[in-house]
Amino acid sequence: MFDKKVSIIGCGNIGLSLLQGLLKDKTIPANNITATRRNIQELAHLKEYGVRLTTDNISAVEESDLILVAVKPYNIVNILEEIKDYLNPTRHILISVTAGVTFSQIQDVVRTSVPIFRAMPNISASVGKSVSCICHNGANTKDIESVKYLFDIIGTTMTIDEELMESATILGACGIAYVLRFIRAMIQGGIQIGFDARTASAIVNQTVKGAAELLIERKKHPEYEIDKVTTPKGCTIVGLNEMEHNGFSSSLIKGIVASYEKIEK
Ligand SMILES: NC(=O)c1ccc[n+]([C@@H]2O[C@H](COP(=O)([O-])OP(=O)(O)OC[C@H]3O[C@@H](n4cnc5c(N)ncnc54)[C@H](OP(=O)(O)O)[C@@H]3O)[C@@H](O)[C@H]2O)c1
Repeated sequence: MFDKKVSIIGCGNIGLSLLQGLLKDKTIPANNITATRRNIQELAHLKEYGVRLTTDNISAVEESDLILVAVKPYNIVNILEEIKDYLNPTRHILISVTAGVTFSQIQDVVRTSVPIFRAMPNISASVGKSVSCICHNGANTKDIESVKYLFDIIGTTMTIDEELMESATILGACGIAYVLRFIRAMIQGGIQIGFDARTASAIVNQTVKGAAELLIERKKHPEYEIDKVTTPKGCTIVGLNEMEHNGFSSSLIKGIVASYEKIEK
């Protein structure tokens, strides 16, 4: 039984995705969750679930055990300044999902022994399918378990070194956009070869889900499964090779590296 109270400070795109995932799962009762943002009427639709909504970040901290800060990098220092005197090292765990802000930058502001985690989920959290990479600055096993428990509710969780958090941001959080663009392109192709948009989407979505689940379950390399689909001289290999001649894999890899170079600047 998970009896911790959770607050999400800065409930925008990713904060809301996390909140929706928690509400969908119901392990944490809605009235144990507080969500904040300045423009709180944007979250008014969540009132009916019983979530506590407030613009007051300090009261959110006082109400909670796990504090998720989900604001943009340019807002996090102000938020940390605002809440730091209310952080209790024996009660609270501070979790930042803000990209690119390190433990030492967070610690420079809060100057407390409160356990600090960084986490990088993605927007699939809203349907319980995020992959969330987490790291901590020497937290104890109990706190690590609590944070892992929280992120396991909204998907799967991996503990990584802090130095890989930016890579996790690109591969896991930005990655969903790359995959969605890939899906869009497949749908467009499907329409060109005869399907209406709705049918093409349904076929492509399930194909992508099936491909991912195949790899997750069987734990094989993608090329092992591809070999089963590519009949010699057949239509699949012809199409795949045409994609590669046009830079398919290369453009994806270059895009990932470009995103990484941007986040590292
Ligand atoms: N989007 C993703 O897929 C994703 C995934 C993983 C990590 N992240 C990281 O998460 C962070 C947030 O990204 P996002 O896309 O969710 O941004 P976002 O949609 O702008 O959400 C941030 C929210 O913070 C609120 N906020 C700003 N100042 C505040 C304050 N003083 N008190 C309370 N709330 C405040 C804003 O709402 P108000 O203006 O109403 O206050 C806004 O809704 C970024 O660092 C991003 O890199 C994002």
